[in-house]
Amino acid sequence: MSDAYDVIVIGGGPGGYVGAIRAAQLGLKTAIVEKRGTLGGTCLNVGCIPSKALLQSSHHYEMAGHEFADHGVHVSGLKLDLKTMLGRKEMVVNDLTKGVEFLMKKNKIDYHVGNAEITAPGEVVVKPLKKGGKKQTLKTVNIIIATGSDVTRLPGVAIDEKQIVSSTGALSLPKVPKTMVVIGAGVIGLELGSVWRRLGAAVTVIEFLDVALPGMDAEVSKNMQRILKKQGMSFKMKTKVTGAKTARAGVTLSMEPHDGLAKGAKPEIMKADVVLVAIGRKPYTEGLGLKKASVSIDERGFILVDDDFQTNVEGIYAIGDVIGGMMLAHKAEDEGIVCAEIIAGESGHIDYNSVPGIVYTHPEVAAAGKTEEQLKDAGIEYNSGKFPFTANSRARCNASTDGFVKILSDKATDTVLGCHIIGPQAGDLIQEVVNVMEFGGSAEDIARICHGHPGLPEAVKEAALATAGRAIHM
Ligand code: FAD
Ligand code: NAI
Repeated sequence: MSDAYDVIVIGGGPGGYVGAIRAAQLGLKTAIVEKRGTLGGTCLNVGCIPSKALLQSSHHYEMAGHEFADHGVHVSGLKLDLKTMLGRKEMVVNDLTKGVEFLMKKNKIDYHVGNAEITAPGEVVVKPLKKGGKKQTLKTVNIIIATGSDVTRLPGVAIDEKQIVSSTGALSLPKVPKTMVVIGAGVIGLELGSVWRRLGAAVTVIEFLDVALPGMDAEVSKNMQRILKKQGMSFKMKTKVTGAKTARAGVTLSMEPHDGLAKGAKPEIMKADVVLVAIGRKPYTEGLGLKKASVSIDERGFILVDDDFQTNVEGIYAIGDVIGGMMLAHKAEDEGIVCAEIIAGESGHIDYNSVPGIVYTHPEVAAAGKTEEQLKDAGIEYNSGKFPFTANSRARCNASTDGFVKILSDKATDTVLGCHIIGPQAGDLIQEVVNVMEFGGSAEDIARICHGHPGLPEAVKEAALATAGRAIHM
């Protein structure tokens, strides 16, 4: 067993590669197996990073076309060069995935390219990507499964990544569609729908439920939908898509109310150049050998783990999207770190209540902790403090005044229980509140901290003051 590893990580996404680095830092002999051909997983290759690159580029285009003039900056001959925009996105992805490969080398982590199958506890077979390549059998004490997630398919709507696309196809459309239907008003639908709307597509979002961004604080969902409508995105709520036909002229969708067709009623028809299916993601465990290794999964396919990320099989751990919970890169990363620390005999812990969720639309949406609905359901009495960006001087300077900060604090103890933001750089602003929540701090703590002026974080301070009815600038 001298050449055996201490840890083999399967999957090179944010959960896997970060876990591998932490394991190596702790002195464990570590290998990582990835079948994509590049490291970084869904997030760096076809998720967080390319989508944010396009969100940034398309935001510049929209600003130049519609907002610069308000600042006295006139642009003539504005033209979209989609090829360059997509090329820049690819460059960002390539740089970052190469960077992760460098980090593997720096930390002396063996990087095996291929499809990993667990053939027994302590044994991983790596099948080469290319025909004729050699299989490799690796021995190890521990295995961390970090194989992530894949797109959820919609029956009757076959994804071809050309006319009917998943998020992956929507990151590389060769031309701007005139019309685009997005199925699902979740995070992907609103982010990538925003990209193509900004670039000129008429975007209609079809959602099964009666709210966009379900699960978020209801006031946030409602207001965000209103803001996106104002920007030109159309919504068709309480509707389900039941089928799609593709032809050269485009895609024809059939739809019906979410609770079914009334007797004698006919399905509604909608046509679009491109349809984006964004109805969620599911755990990815294909070809991993879970059955052979007797690793238990739940009814939706997520790998079952205990508080230490240990599966039912000793020495086999799992982290990230494949175990469910919030399907977020930073959640996967933190799980990777804690899992490696536990394997190394240390202890680790994640407070899932304060993991922030961010939607990178413009304005951004950010949330941490409990929503008002959750507090009401749990019978917890709370104070709510809200401050609009229209009253924040920096937001006014920046001409970015849509949205608000809402802080929810315990009525008896003033402990911060939740924060919900729509606004400029909401994803950065939430971090201050997350830190306070992690330290068990109060709204008064935020209110007593001196915030730089003029700054967007002053809106957070004012919302904290507002929980006690003493906001200054409102
Ligand atoms: P993954 O990143 O999915 O990585 C798993 C890796 O395992 C893959 O590369 C896969 O090829 C590999 N693999 C699978 N099976 C095997 C096998 N048998 N052998 C070898 N390798 C295998 N999250 C955020 O926090 N912020 C965002 O802004 C954000 N934007 C997103 C945008 C889009 C369009 C999408 C789709 C997702 C986005 N996410 C975002 C979610 C984020 O990408 C995931 O939560 C994150 O990547 C999960 O990390 P992971 O390590 O668990 O899995
Ligand atoms: P999602 O779960 O965010 O949203 C899916 C939406 O589709 C929901 O509103 C749901 O009600 C709706 N839906 C489900 N079935 C439907 C149907 N048949 N017809 C119409 N609507 C239907 O999933 P999404 O947007 O696909 O994202 C997947 C994951 O990726 C999310 O869990 C998210 O965490 C992650 N992600 C995170 C991002 C971020 O952090 N900024 C960005 C993009 C993705």
